[in-house]
Amino acid sequence: MKGPDLVRRQLLIGAAGIGTGAALTSVAGYASPVMPESGASRGPRRIIIDTDPGVDDALAILLALKSPEVKVEAITAVAGNVPLDLTLRNALRLVEIAGRTDIPVAAGANRPLKRRLVTAAYVHGNNGLAGVEFPEPKTKPTAEPAPQLIRRIVRQSPGEVSIVAIGPLTNLALAFREDPQLPSQIRSVTIMGGSLSGGNITPAAEFNSYVDPEAAQAVYQSGARITMIGLDVTRKAALSEGQVHLLESAGNQAGRAAGRIMRATLEQVRRTGANGGRLLAHDSMAVASFIDPSLVTLQDVHIEVETEGELTAGETVGYRKTPMRRSAPLLEAPAVADDAPFQPNAKAAVDVDGDRFLSFLIGRLAG
Ligand code: BDR
Ligand code: CA
Repeated sequence: MKGPDLVRRQLLIGAAGIGTGAALTSVAGYASPVMPESGASRGPRRIIIDTDPGVDDALAILLALKSPEVKVEAITAVAGNVPLDLTLRNALRLVEIAGRTDIPVAAGANRPLKRRLVTAAYVHGNNGLAGVEFPEPKTKPTAEPAPQLIRRIVRQSPGEVSIVAIGPLTNLALAFREDPQLPSQIRSVTIMGGSLSGGNITPAAEFNSYVDPEAAQAVYQSGARITMIGLDVTRKAALSEGQVHLLESAGNQAGRAAGRIMRATLEQVRRTGANGGRLLAHDSMAVASFIDPSLVTLQDVHIEVETEGELTAGETVGYRKTPMRRSAPLLEAPAVADDAPFQPNAKAAVDVDGDRFLSFLIGRLAG
């Protein structure tokens, strides 16, 4: 066996290895930092994907649908990379491409809580899939809107369902606003968003938290068990030309669809210089690390999202130790001591095994 075939075989073996390890980890170890195992069922872990597809969302969704360690209970669309009518249709297309029309897809918020929607067509193209055309979806969205669907699924199985949130956090914030006890009923929330240092849409803010900083702040302060996979870490792993080729020549429809989307995205980012011309798979890292937490290194953090700054809204300020100090008080404000002790409200990724992550992703999609 030679060339691409050998590479593909090695990738597939790598992916199978991770899968087996993750299944063991999920029983033995992963549950403990998130929620005690008692009362929660064994077997695939149940997730809802909240998303704004989006090229990297598309990859992340297909990765989840091809991973036996997770059972996708629903996909909820939100406005973000492109407007809601497109993210919703793309989500419906993706379940059709993967042959998983049994999974409910719901429409969520069509704009952020308090701001005008800013989109990212410069990476995702006008249709959200880098201009790649797939047939119009035949599947219909649920009648129930996303926040209500999230709430119903979680409430039916308290402590069992996790959320993987890979778009602006508007849907989750709305669900939490309606039902303030909901965060304590969710097994875990894995977020692709924010950054412990530097942004992509502004020097300070990562796109998802920039689009709806008020929603992000509400989610981080909700008491939910949060893992943040931020931009500073997702930037560490870029797909190579060869990996795109492996997807394009995959032996299954979902893998080939991922290949088409990634090829067009690569051309787009090279042309526009977005992401430094690199092909990033931000959202897949959230799904992959949910399945196999050993891919990332986590640290306790306290995240506050900047909502006031004219230049910095959406910045996720990550405290890692005492004191959790705020900006110096203005002259007209009372002089108060502001040295709150460190109290983590999330775990944040500070590093990733990029090569292992990419082999896992490509192996699963191409396999
Ligand atoms: C995040 O923003 C979106 O453009 C991507 O889909 C990803 O969720 C990266 O900053
Ligand atoms: Ca996204």
